[in-house]
Amino acid sequence: MKSSMLLWRLLPYVSKAAAKAQMEFDYDGPSMKTAVPGPRSQELTKQLGDIQNVGAVNFFCNYEESRGNYLVDVDGNRMLDIYTQISSIPIGYNHPALLKLMTNPNNLSTFVNRPALGILPPENFPDKIAESLLSVAPSGMTRVQTMACGSCSNENAYKAMFIWYRNKERGYKTPSDEDHSTCMINQAPGCPDLSILSFMGAFHGRTMGCLATTHSKVIHKLDVPSFDWPIAPFPKLQYPLEEFTRENALEEARCLEEVEDLIVKWRQKGKPVAGIVIEPIQAEGGDNHASPDFFRRLRDIARKHGCAFHVDEVQTGGGGTGKFWAHEHWGMDDPADIVSFSKKLLTGGYYHKDELQPYRIFNTWMGDPSKNLFLSEVLNVIRRENLLEEVTRSGKALLNGLYELQAQYPGILSRARGQGTFCAIDICDGATRDTILVKARDKGVLLGGCGDRSIRFRPALVFKEYHVHLLLNIFNDVLANHK
Ligand SMILES: Cc1ncc(COP(=O)(O)O)c(C=O)c1O
Repeated sequence: MKSSMLLWRLLPYVSKAAAKAQMEFDYDGPSMKTAVPGPRSQELTKQLGDIQNVGAVNFFCNYEESRGNYLVDVDGNRMLDIYTQISSIPIGYNHPALLKLMTNPNNLSTFVNRPALGILPPENFPDKIAESLLSVAPSGMTRVQTMACGSCSNENAYKAMFIWYRNKERGYKTPSDEDHSTCMINQAPGCPDLSILSFMGAFHGRTMGCLATTHSKVIHKLDVPSFDWPIAPFPKLQYPLEEFTRENALEEARCLEEVEDLIVKWRQKGKPVAGIVIEPIQAEGGDNHASPDFFRRLRDIARKHGCAFHVDEVQTGGGGTGKFWAHEHWGMDDPADIVSFSKKLLTGGYYHKDELQPYRIFNTWMGDPSKNLFLSEVLNVIRRENLLEEVTRSGKALLNGLYELQAQYPGILSRARGQGTFCAIDICDGATRDTILVKARDKGVLLGGCGDRSIRFRPALVFKEYHVHLLLNIFNDVLANHK
């Protein structure tokens, strides 16, 4: 390790102030008026509770008053939002560029008339898709299918992989009469016994197929029937990564070996692996990283065994890691056969190779053209304001600050890690993590948990160094007062 790195990791965190961000639509800082949830939030929770389950509701929001990096609640509390609606707000609240779109009369029909895109797309649809999603297509991909949300993107991507795999097996011949009759009664060969290999700790959504590949928390899976599909270990790395390269390489090699064993085992069981699905950074499962080399070798294993390689960028996509796609950090020309997205992209969907052409993938909406309008504008803002560079800069300040805090509070904090502003840190145990999240919120910083005892940082792309220091000062306060 470089001595300068060692030095800043050992120095205590001292309050820093960065130049105030030049953002006309941001507030100056948090402002707290009541405990959260405040009285109005509690009243509304009770009212909604008579209609639906409110077990997960934190508080009610005032989206009109929210701006930039700040979420305002119905009791007038203004919080620096580093959770951003589960990592799905790309350029902050009420960005003027997005509000302007709503005032353009030419866009009105797109907002008012939601089409069944698969059968009746609007005239400007090809242009708008080219302007938005195709302009950020992953390397080697020229085709994209929009969908509504992350789970439905993954669910349909899995179907596309199965259909592709069966077509290969059939030698691209028309399905037989037996295929037709058996599929209607859920039997093989029409409904073939194929599988998707996923990783322990993964989160790919909660619909039935996705859930079979989700292994982050018991609560998501309990009581729901699932498939007998192979689950490989995801590398458990030591951080900072650059200090444990040898140990981590051994751990990654162990996991890759297991992947190959599982592929062989499931083929022998008569349930061949049609596809491998993986997140570039396991997010819900605790912000678990792996090296570019791990992903390159996994891609090779998929190729060698004839499995499609699906990279789930639902949480990592859209710039939070400092590159538009997290898989760009792997430096590959041909990173995947499928890349799914949602959240910061505002629309769900997936890019795919030509041969995974998803005919027979269909539903009513298949996305929403109004989201493509917003996405085009988000991409303009990202380019115009060099937001990926900003994320890299803010991310460095954030991770360095977390290293400093970790050195200062070794009994509470460990395993600071991150790429861009997509950062996380572990807390000594789950209960302390939950207390710290509440205390930070009381001081006006909204953070989220992930895994058993991690805190994840998921700011918008307009989160500047100035906001990093605001956050670190408040986080430091919470830690200093933690008993
Ligand atoms: C990596 C990943 N995949 C899929 C999903 C599911 O997306 P959605 O909640 O939009 O269904 C999520 C949601 O957090 C995710 O993080």
